[in-house]
Amino acid sequence: MNEVIDLLKSHTSIRKFNGEEIKKEDVDVIVGAAMRGATAGNMMAYSIIKVQSEDMLKNLAVSCDNQPFIADAKLALLFVADNYKWHKYFEQRGINEEFPDYKGPSISDFMLGVEDAMIAAQNAVIAAESLGIGTCYIGDIMEQCEYHRELFNLPEYTMPVALVVMGYYDTKPKLRDRFDKSFVVFDEVYPEINNDFINEMFSEEEKKDKDFAPKFYKRKMDAPFFKEMIRSIKIYLKQWE
Ligand SMILES: Cc1cc2nc3c(=O)[nH]c(=O)nc-3n(C[C@H](O)[C@H](O)[C@H](O)COP(=O)(O)O)c2cc1C
Repeated sequence: MNEVIDLLKSHTSIRKFNGEEIKKEDVDVIVGAAMRGATAGNMMAYSIIKVQSEDMLKNLAVSCDNQPFIADAKLALLFVADNYKWHKYFEQRGINEEFPDYKGPSISDFMLGVEDAMIAAQNAVIAAESLGIGTCYIGDIMEQCEYHRELFNLPEYTMPVALVVMGYYDTKPKLRDRFDKSFVVFDEVYPEINNDFINEMFSEEEKKDKDFAPKFYKRKMDAPFFKEMIRSIKIYLKQWE
């Protein structure tokens, strides 16, 4: 093992911050690490918006499904899948005249932008954790499309895909269990997923609570925030149709 592996293996999300400011140099290191991530075609089809003002953080604490701890963070990085800048570039250079097929960014551009943005986000998380700064992803940033577009002044062909809130912590929470490797990592090809596989995969959870499935579904997929996320994402996706 080495220090990087030890760091990766000690990851936990942090939802309680101690109020200590993050130094500007550290913000720069985190953002620099994010930008060093692999990026499809070296296009960097993403943008990073640094959020540090109390007002913006308070707004996000409400708009991201009312999660008050967001307002206590000292930094939030918004990772935006962004095909707008390349689209503007192609427009300015008259690419659609030379290539009449070009009608704007495609679904592939979108997926690559999402992948780029998430790679950058995870690099930022690792860099922050290496500096002793705790992090938490906020998936609810994909909700409230109209509100977040206006709040961040997002143009067409962009979608906020990850918000990562950061701050120092007093005590680090315990590691959360993961599914066993046998349910996640396969050799060469995808295996047949039979009833035994599913029963074994969820046996730990169901030992604790036999109604794990309906309770989980009710808490997540059947919850208002999840329905809002579906509505909002559908609006974003229309741009790449
Ligand atoms: C895409 C994504 C979205 C997430 N959204 C939220 C969120 O909105 N609020 C929250 O408290 N945690 C959120 N999390 C953190 C997960 O709940 C957390 O990673 C998971 O429970 C495993 O815990 P651990 O990170 O401490 O190991 C999110 C994580 C990911 C990867």
